[in-house]
Amino acid sequence: MEKNDYNKPLLNEARKRSRGATSAIDFSIPESLLGIGIGKKYVMQTFGCQGNEADSEHIRGLLARLGFVPTAQEDDADLILFNTCAIRANAENKVFGELGRIKKFKQSNPDLIIAVGGCMPQEEVVVEKILKTYHQVDIVFGTHNLHLLPEYLDKVMRRKEKVIEVLSEEGEIVEQLPAVRESGHKAWVNIMFGCDEFCTYCIVPYTRGKERSRKPENIIAEVRDLAERGYKEVTLLGQNVNSYGLDFSDRNYHFSDLLRDLSLLSIDRIRFTTSHPKDFGDDLIDVLAHCQHLMPYIHLPVQSGSNKILKAMNRKYTKEAYIALVERIYHAIPGVSLTTDIIVGFPGETEEDFLETLELVRKCRFEGAYTFIFSPRSGTPAATYPDTTDMDEKKSRLWRLNGLINEGFARGNRRFVGETLLVLVDGVSKTDCDVLSGYTEHNKIVNFRGPSSLIGTVVLVHITDAKTWSLDGEVADHEAR
Ligand code: SAH
Ligand code: SF4
Ligand code: F3S
Repeated sequence: MEKNDYNKPLLNEARKRSRGATSAIDFSIPESLLGIGIGKKYVMQTFGCQGNEADSEHIRGLLARLGFVPTAQEDDADLILFNTCAIRANAENKVFGELGRIKKFKQSNPDLIIAVGGCMPQEEVVVEKILKTYHQVDIVFGTHNLHLLPEYLDKVMRRKEKVIEVLSEEGEIVEQLPAVRESGHKAWVNIMFGCDEFCTYCIVPYTRGKERSRKPENIIAEVRDLAERGYKEVTLLGQNVNSYGLDFSDRNYHFSDLLRDLSLLSIDRIRFTTSHPKDFGDDLIDVLAHCQHLMPYIHLPVQSGSNKILKAMNRKYTKEAYIALVERIYHAIPGVSLTTDIIVGFPGETEEDFLETLELVRKCRFEGAYTFIFSPRSGTPAATYPDTTDMDEKKSRLWRLNGLINEGFARGNRRFVGETLLVLVDGVSKTDCDVLSGYTEHNKIVNFRGPSSLIGTVVLVHITDAKTWSLDGEVADHEAR
């Protein structure tokens, strides 16, 4: 096949935003493709955010329709897939490392198909690098066309030719995609796709396209169906869930309306991620404070505590506005647990700017955070900003910040010792297979002894001890719900 037949992405095109609402289509699979994977096995690795985990569940659903079954053994697989993340250089380096590592399987099995999807292929530099260096890769697809994976697989299997198909622009929203969910009691539910914020450091608006909200009736139907099938918890997903519905042209319906409608369903726990502070209105605080099933836990990325850096990041709020919002939330929802995301070492961040971040962390009483060193992403504005701080200094800032964050983590756990809490039992503990582990409403991990029959149920657990990262407890009542 000629190189020209490849459909490669362009970051400059991805920057463009069309106006208006996005229409939706219902997914269907061409009948001729059903069964093309019968007798074949696959391995998939997922990198990145919950949005990518949700996409991987859909990829598993598509593969199941074709007849593929999962295997844990790469040397026995007919298909190896990577669902990738482009957010920081180290996320990308891991994938390139893996592509190099699995080359040996292709040498022993020339029919092995290797596919790379997700956010990395949305960057033209990545596609060029794969074409130049990673000849073992057969399929490259992006975030806008994962529903076409069955067709790409068919092409490679029948014609033995590479498929490089990455679209720069999002298409319609695809409803009714099949899914094989990781858990039988917790589910991701996309409520919107894309991001229109263009924080200057971030690649996501380019890799995920413009903001598109799913219609509320489709989301409500999905959550109702999950509840009927015994699911206990849903996490609503979007890069900025607070701007849900702003793209609708036929109705005035926002995130707070969606939460209010979902809280009327018989699903025990509703969570969401991620909230952008700039759109967190009093209507939303009010719904969170008064409607049932909405969990008292909010992840509210602040990124920096310096107004100069927030402006350079294009975050559209000041530290004063953020702190005032946090105080309103604490006041309206007593006991709520807050976590955040912070980037250190953004270009131009001085020691004084960093000290302002530490001060904001103290004021906001966070109970956890994901913390990162700024990673320049080619094609984003911040990648071109002059950056004079050396890496050792950035690492030292990260280390100091993490010390403070960990204190908040421990404090957030300690406050529950002696209480009896509702815990959704997830599975056996990662560190001790005789111990069960689950999450409280405030999203704290609890480890306790109990029979595995409790997995997937909500139980009352008496909290006996707090560690930095988790709580210990004893089951108080097996029949909490
Ligand atoms: N949409 C979400 C976050 C998506 S990315 C939000 O706005 O909150 C998750 C986190 O990765 C971000 O909150 C940010 O802290 C971090 N991040 C994004 N781009 C980054 C970069 N170039 N370097 C370092 N961290 C980055
Ligand atoms: Fe990235 Fe900002 Fe969009 Fe979050 S809101 S995905 S940080 S551009
Ligand atoms: Fe990564 Fe794409 Fe998510 S870049 S964080 S997988 S939206």
